[in-house]
Amino acid sequence: MDLEDTLLMMPGPVPVAPRVLRAMSKPMINHRGAEFSAMYDDCCEILADVFRTKNDIFILSGSGTAAMEAAVGCTVGKDDVVIALENGKFGERFKDIAARYGKVNALENDWGSSFDLDEVEKKLEEGAKAITLVHNETSAGIQNPAKEIGRLAKKHDALFIMDGVTTLGGDTVQTDDWGVDIAVVGSQKCLAAPPGLSMISVSERAFEAMEKKESLPYYLDLKACRKSSKKSQTPYTPAIPLFFGLQEALHIVKEEGMEARIKRHATGARAIRAAADAMGIEMFPQLNKYSHYSNTVTAMRSPAGISSDDIKKDMIARGITIAGGQAHLKGKIFRIGSMGNVQPKDIILTIQELGVVLKNRGVISDIGAGVEAAGEVLDELL
Ligand SMILES: Cc1ncc(COP(=O)(O)O)c(C=O)c1O
Repeated sequence: MDLEDTLLMMPGPVPVAPRVLRAMSKPMINHRGAEFSAMYDDCCEILADVFRTKNDIFILSGSGTAAMEAAVGCTVGKDDVVIALENGKFGERFKDIAARYGKVNALENDWGSSFDLDEVEKKLEEGAKAITLVHNETSAGIQNPAKEIGRLAKKHDALFIMDGVTTLGGDTVQTDDWGVDIAVVGSQKCLAAPPGLSMISVSERAFEAMEKKESLPYYLDLKACRKSSKKSQTPYTPAIPLFFGLQEALHIVKEEGMEARIKRHATGARAIRAAADAMGIEMFPQLNKYSHYSNTVTAMRSPAGISSDDIKKDMIARGITIAGGQAHLKGKIFRIGSMGNVQPKDIILTIQELGVVLKNRGVISDIGAGVEAAGEVLDELL
């Protein structure tokens, strides 16, 4: 299958609009010149609306993990305790990063199961410099209660470091109202830009924590980012073509408007869940009253006797790339990403092909049930 005919329905990277691809082919510019600064400011202005924050925002050359490491590496010292909340692969990653810089007090749940807020509070009562949370745990398709955990972090005077990698730009995030000291996002997810950049918002409280640290990482030094951002620049040579792409992608976000974008994402994910239900496919996350199914990636259990690797392989043969499970979930779950500029017709096509795959494997008999259920939900967007 030709790459240009393949539909990416995975939780990042996502398809980027042709105008974003064209923007990236512009000639290089001086990263210390006025043109770059204007682009930097333009991006930050749109990002302030995406993040809903008045905090400083920096754009790093490096994927989402770079921003996760900058967040922890700049605020946490070797004697500081970090409460790392884990219910999936990326919560585990925050825990592993925290272990490189400080002392970890982890709350480790089964992947895909919800956090109990009383347990989170008990951990905070033990005392901590910071708490890390993955707002939308992409590996498990669960949305964690960021607002509530932000409230608890504030009550116990811990910095709230939040991974919004698969929510910012596609789902509701209220950085300031939820008291998020550091929020991070990657370019290749809901913002529908190419991979390779990450964006990070940093509160005054987080900057104060940096003042107390003996040393900061060098390349990921957020104080250096702050200094350079006063001149609308980055400390080191930025990935200029990716900035061109990001700027164009952010213009698409602005033209659609965050409210409409959030509604499109939520409706798309709901349509996929309705289709799964109609086809007898079970959701993977175990919810409680504070957590929700993800609005950007849907994680489903493989039907009995079938490996999700096979479902994924069959889908790829039909021109649609979906994701399987990570680590111990490999083969057990499959995930459909519906983030970025994904349109209802992309979802319908994906569900239709999934129906064919499941019928061919003897799981369902009615190919149309999923499409019908998804279509009904997606009609709300018309
Ligand atoms: C929730 C979450 N956090 C962090 C990351 C890591 O981002 P990156 O792969 O851009 O470094 C991902 C990537 O899938 C993610 O989904």
